[in-house]
Amino acid sequence: MAGSSSCSLLVLFVLFGCAFAAKDILLGGKTDAWKVPSSESDSLNKWASSVRFQVGDHLILKYEAGKDSVLQVSKEDYDSCNISKPIKHYNDGNTKVRFDHSGPYYYISGEKGHCEKGQKLTVVVMSLKGGSRPIVAFSPSPSPAEVEGPAASAVAPAPTSGAAVLQGGGVFVAVGVFVAMWLF
Ligand SMILES: *[C@@H]1O[C@H](CO)[C@@H](O)[C@H](O)[C@H]1NC(C)=O
Repeated sequence: MAGSSSCSLLVLFVLFGCAFAAKDILLGGKTDAWKVPSSESDSLNKWASSVRFQVGDHLILKYEAGKDSVLQVSKEDYDSCNISKPIKHYNDGNTKVRFDHSGPYYYISGEKGHCEKGQKLTVVVMSLKGGSRPIVAFSPSPSPAEVEGPAASAVAPAPTSGAAVLQGGGVFVAVGVFVAMWLF
């Protein structure tokens, strides 16, 4: 049972371009995103809520070293912008954090006053088990295509054509054997 399900997962890996591969995710999609946001709509959390973070992924935060820093803090310290007791502290300007467990991660700027102005980030990291969700999300799309008819063969070419090739090969071999018997 476990063997066959991991096998089909492997097939899905290949089909969906390794959906589970760990990613390096640049904060905000740009190199200067770790700063006081210009507006609420530009907030880091708005960006973060649109991104899928999974265990094993890295988040990269770029900023000017010495001018800012990144603190990983508890939820309480995140809420109150308390920079006095960070869990982790980074100030190298090119911070790469790895998410090694699922759940929320809280980051605030270590610069006085920045967190209060919105330079804070919550990342919710999903477990690899949660990572099977994209496959569930993918599977509804082939279904409507099947209903449409011709598109179905384009959606699922591998099993169909694979079977056809095998059958074709079988027919070819059978014909070959028949011809051989007839000749000799
Ligand atoms: C920040 O947290 C520390 C302990 O974690 C506490 O002693 C301190 O009073 C807090 N500061 C503020 C401004 O809440």
